[in-house]
Amino acid sequence: MSKTPMTLPRRLGLLFELPTLCIIIVTMVALSLPLVVALRGWQGWSQTIASPSVTRRVAGPLGKPTALIHIGPPKTGTTYIQRVLLAYRAKLLGMNMVYYVPPVEGRHPEAHHFLLHPERDETAMTAFKDKLSEAVAKGQHVIVSSEALSLMSPKLMSSLKSLFPKFNIKVVLTHRPFLGREWSQYKQHLSQHNPPQIGVSFAEFYGKVSRSETDGTGFCGRVASKYIQEFGRDSVFILDFLGAQNDGDIVNMLLSAVGLPTFEEPLEQVHLGPGLASDQVVYFQMWYLLGEYMREHHHCKLEAPPRQELVHKVDAMFKHHTMPKKCLDMEPMKKYALKMDANFRVAFGDRILHFRPDLSDNETTHFKQICELDHQIVRMDWNDAFEKHAETLLSNSCQKQ
Ligand SMILES: *[C@@H]1O[C@H](CO)[C@@H](O)[C@H](O)[C@H]1NC(C)=O
Repeated sequence: MSKTPMTLPRRLGLLFELPTLCIIIVTMVALSLPLVVALRGWQGWSQTIASPSVTRRVAGPLGKPTALIHIGPPKTGTTYIQRVLLAYRAKLLGMNMVYYVPPVEGRHPEAHHFLLHPERDETAMTAFKDKLSEAVAKGQHVIVSSEALSLMSPKLMSSLKSLFPKFNIKVVLTHRPFLGREWSQYKQHLSQHNPPQIGVSFAEFYGKVSRSETDGTGFCGRVASKYIQEFGRDSVFILDFLGAQNDGDIVNMLLSAVGLPTFEEPLEQVHLGPGLASDQVVYFQMWYLLGEYMREHHHCKLEAPPRQELVHKVDAMFKHHTMPKKCLDMEPMKKYALKMDANFRVAFGDRILHFRPDLSDNETTHFKQICELDHQIVRMDWNDAFEKHAETLLSNSCQKQ
């Protein structure tokens, strides 16, 4: 026999039972509320109410808060990230994240470089530790950012780790295509007038970098391995630089990589001075070789003027069109870079977020022709040209040593 269809009275009965059921549920929720609040602490609870999108990301009632440790490396948008974190500090705090600004002198107080010098920067370290205890007590997440951390020694790394026993540590680094990063890194060295350790011309620099590669995954690869070894593979997150930039603001990508809440409104532009432009490179290289000449022949140290002034000065002295230039054979450089990037993907593919190998390879394949000063010719044939300016330089921009 087929089942008897539900009779009308029974259906009505079910309808009447619904409100009762609701009352029971509401009562149960109300009764458990104080318990949940007690477990999570008020901070965590109010945050859950304020922003539902945050709920699934923050640690559970008994979980530890997150310590996001952003380690660069240099030339992967770190200054931008730090400036935004600084500018949005109050807002971050409202989202339960602390971006600490240490009491240190210097040009970039928003970057946590003091972590690299725990002894030298004792004041900052002490204040930072206090801030961490406070954050733990309040259940707040902490964000740390310093590209210098990518250079950290294993010994310092373990002391860094020991600063965060009460946090869920998540290390984030950014991988930028090899060739683009090296070129950018070279230009930065050059604009800071410290090329000797790294090779004076880019050709020399790139050659040195390539020869120093042992495991074939580039500087980012060595940094990633080092951190994976110290913190464990699951605690290291790698952002694909171009992929992440393509998906939105790099700061939001950094936060979401480790499951922290992100900014919903568009971030206001943080203005950074442009890096050394590619067409300024020859002037800086010429200045460097001139400095070398003055040091050797006149025992003085050439003081560098600000960037634009330096360009004008070199142009006035030597005229751009007379300076010998050399365009590099880009093909082997690109080939090498593509291989490095491919090796990196094989080694760390499981840790890479916003993975866009197509963007990365396209950047390298279409990398612009690099032309630079022909250092060899200048060193051989330009002493007379340099000597003509020696007297003036000695009187106004060269300090006798
Ligand atoms: C590849 O790179 C070139 C040069 O930077 C760019 O113009 C082009 O849009 C890129 N193509 C893709 C598919 O990203």
